[in-house]
Amino acid sequence: MDKISVIRGATTVKSDTAVDISESVKELVSEIVAKNGLNEKGRQPIFCIISSTSDITALYPARAVRESDILNCPLFSCLEPPIKDSLPMCIRVMIQVSGINEIKHVYLRGAKVLRPDLCRPFSVAVDGPSGAGKSTIAKLLAKRLNMTYLDTGAMYRAIGLKMHNCGISLDDETGILKVLDNTDVSVEFENDVQKVYLDGVDVGKEIRKHYVSKLASDFSAIAVVRKKLVDMQRKIASRRDCILDGRDIGTKVLPDSPAKFFLTASVDVRAKRRFDELTAKGEKCDFETVKKDMQSRDYNDSHRKVDPLKKAADAIEIDSSDMDIEQVIERMTEEIDKKRRCFQ
Ligand code: DC
Repeated sequence: MDKISVIRGATTVKSDTAVDISESVKELVSEIVAKNGLNEKGRQPIFCIISSTSDITALYPARAVRESDILNCPLFSCLEPPIKDSLPMCIRVMIQVSGINEIKHVYLRGAKVLRPDLCRPFSVAVDGPSGAGKSTIAKLLAKRLNMTYLDTGAMYRAIGLKMHNCGISLDDETGILKVLDNTDVSVEFENDVQKVYLDGVDVGKEIRKHYVSKLASDFSAIAVVRKKLVDMQRKIASRRDCILDGRDIGTKVLPDSPAKFFLTASVDVRAKRRFDELTAKGEKCDFETVKKDMQSRDYNDSHRKVDPLKKAADAIEIDSSDMDIEQVIERMTEEIDKKRRCFQ
């Protein structure tokens, strides 16, 4: 089923005349249609509610929209009772749409967002040590809930790879800064599947190799590296409903996220999962080395000075040692549904 979302917008009217009301509301709705591509195939408006403050009387704003043919869906106009100190001569719209991942709200002519909490995209934060099943679960969950999955570890892996390719060592502060300034890590979503580009090259395969895991963990401890990537992650999550997995999502990247999880499992279970994953890809490795490397990486990640791996106080902890994927997803979906109901 296509994703259903709500686009919000508001504007003000110069004077209570049919001409001014019509001009303002048409401008607002046209801008929403243009910014959200509502005339394009598969991006459907379902219905639109228009409300206006009670000092707007000369024309039903919905009538102006209907007569202009800007929006091809049912329209409903209503009047807001006067509310003390609220913005006068104001028109608000709420358009329910389907098939749009990144919605853009529109505020014109001095109108402001009244409920920023409702306009922010919904996010789910999934943190935990390596091999806890975060990425497998977050990916499936994102599909089920029609959200975008952002694997933040992939971004640290790309930076680790770049430092390695440039021969930069961990203690070379100047070198790290210089390389970082000249590094372009970008994340694109193709059919909602994340692609990671390092200086324009798709590094999706290379960053999954075992040698990159340690590089990612080492360079992720550096404050400037984290700052660059955390800023990017926040920007992505500010534009679409996202499930992010990593180490610091609930504590640093999105501390206000309404749904936070901390996934764990025993070290043996986690090492076995990582070992199976690597051997399935044809990488030669032995179980004990994978386990030892994983333990040392977990130690690094949870003992670094900047934003170490830590359970957020309000995160729900799930130990998946004795659970299968479906059970974990069920448990998380239950929690997310509860939070979403409060959120929307
Ligand atoms: O999840 P992963 O194994 O792909 O992550 C690789 C490394 O990147 C991990 O050892 C720690 C670091 N990382 C981080 O510090 N913060 C994140 N949000 C994600 C990953």
